[in-house]
Amino acid sequence: MPHLPDVSLVDVDDAVMESLLALAKRDASPDEVAPPLGGPGWNAERTAWFRAHHRAAADGLDGRAGEKTWAVLCCGEVAGSVRLKRTEATGRGPAGEAGIWLGRSFRSRGVGGAALTLLLAEARKAGLAQVLARTLAGNLAAQQLLSGLGATLAGEDDGTVLATVGL
Ligand SMILES: CC(C)(COP(=O)(O)OP(=O)(O)OC[C@H]1O[C@@H](n2cnc3c(N)ncnc32)[C@H](O)[C@@H]1OP(=O)(O)O)[C@@H](O)C(=O)NCCC(=O)NCCS
Repeated sequence: MPHLPDVSLVDVDDAVMESLLALAKRDASPDEVAPPLGGPGWNAERTAWFRAHHRAAADGLDGRAGEKTWAVLCCGEVAGSVRLKRTEATGRGPAGEAGIWLGRSFRSRGVGGAALTLLLAEARKAGLAQVLARTLAGNLAAQQLLSGLGATLAGEDDGTVLATVGL
């Protein structure tokens, strides 16, 4: 049997959020984690966005933000984050949008696949029929990861690739 990484998802309370922020700052590039606010690098705007984003998502998919975030734990250590947001229903039914980032030291060992598999199970539990994820055309690791989970990939004119997973 292949060796599966010990990965789980946990809710983001204030303590977990500060661990995630510390991981993001020391072990990821700001653009992988937050929108390009306030210029390059980590700055007050990005840090404020990071905390506000996780707090707004604390009420879950049925809360006001229609979004939930989790921390990814690998062998009990905070390794990154996944998110799921309700979007407009498609022809297939209720839909959502997913996102993921991992600290660099947790990449390339199957953690992303395990975390997204758990996220898709949460999406299924919430009654979603389809999950979409958008990535840059140059992000081959993300595309490989998503197609490994059964996603259909479609290149768009704006230089992004839209991945669609049916549940
Ligand atoms: C994208 C990300 C989550 C991938 O997670 P990961 O656990 O590191 O995934 P892996 O490195 O195990 O790679 C997944 C697959 O991509 C492949 N891959 C990795 N780098 C690749 C590259 N440069 N070219 C082609 N394939 C690549 C791996 O071989 C693996 O394929 P396999 O499962 O068939 O063996 C992680 O790299 C990350 O956090 N990146 C920054 C944020 C980001 O890009 N998020 C995605 C937005 S949708």
